[in-house]
Amino acid sequence: MRVSKFTIDDYDRASTFWRETPGIGLACVESKERFTSFLERNPDLSFKLSDSDAIVGTILCGHDGTRGYLHHLAVAPSYRGRGMGRMMVDKSLEGLRRLGIRKCHFFIDSRNDEGNELWKTLDWTELKEVRVYSHDIELPAQ
Ligand SMILES: CC(C)(COP(=O)(O)OP(=O)(O)OC[C@H]1O[C@@H](n2cnc3c(N)ncnc32)[C@H](O)[C@@H]1OP(=O)(O)O)[C@@H](O)C(=O)NCCC(=O)NCCS
Repeated sequence: MRVSKFTIDDYDRASTFWRETPGIGLACVESKERFTSFLERNPDLSFKLSDSDAIVGTILCGHDGTRGYLHHLAVAPSYRGRGMGRMMVDKSLEGLRRLGIRKCHFFIDSRNDEGNELWKTLDWTELKEVRVYSHDIELPAQ
């Protein structure tokens, strides 16, 4: 098993892993173009966990110049409980630290018990007073 930087060539294997992982899906990286754009805008912050040729864990990390955001943190069931999730979070945070970014957020479904346990264990602060408002932007047909 090894943790290494995500590259654009990983998209097909990663998208298969995300589709197969309950609670993840594709969401913001629904196409290779989106994934490429994400990695190009946020180089060296996103990681994959590999076993031989298979991707068995992922984290995506981006920032807006002031705050970092983590997405798609997942570890395949048979690789859980071995510190791999923590390690990937630490690597992304180290990348943000190098860029001088002092705060990072992660949005999670409040019903995801397993995921919420991880953030409590990692000692992240739950912002109970914050609500997230979202708006869909209609794009012109391609
Ligand atoms: C959440 C997830 C990424 C954790 O990955 P993991 O590799 O098993 O996590 P780690 O082994 O690094 O655990 C880190 C710490 O969190 C704790 N932890 C992780 N999952 C936990 C759980 N379900 N219940 C209690 N504690 C848990 C571990 O005990 C560990 O603590 P320690 O370092 O003090 O021993 C994994 O369960 C997963 O992929 N879940 C499905 C995807 C998902 O829902 N992602 C979005 C939410 S993060």
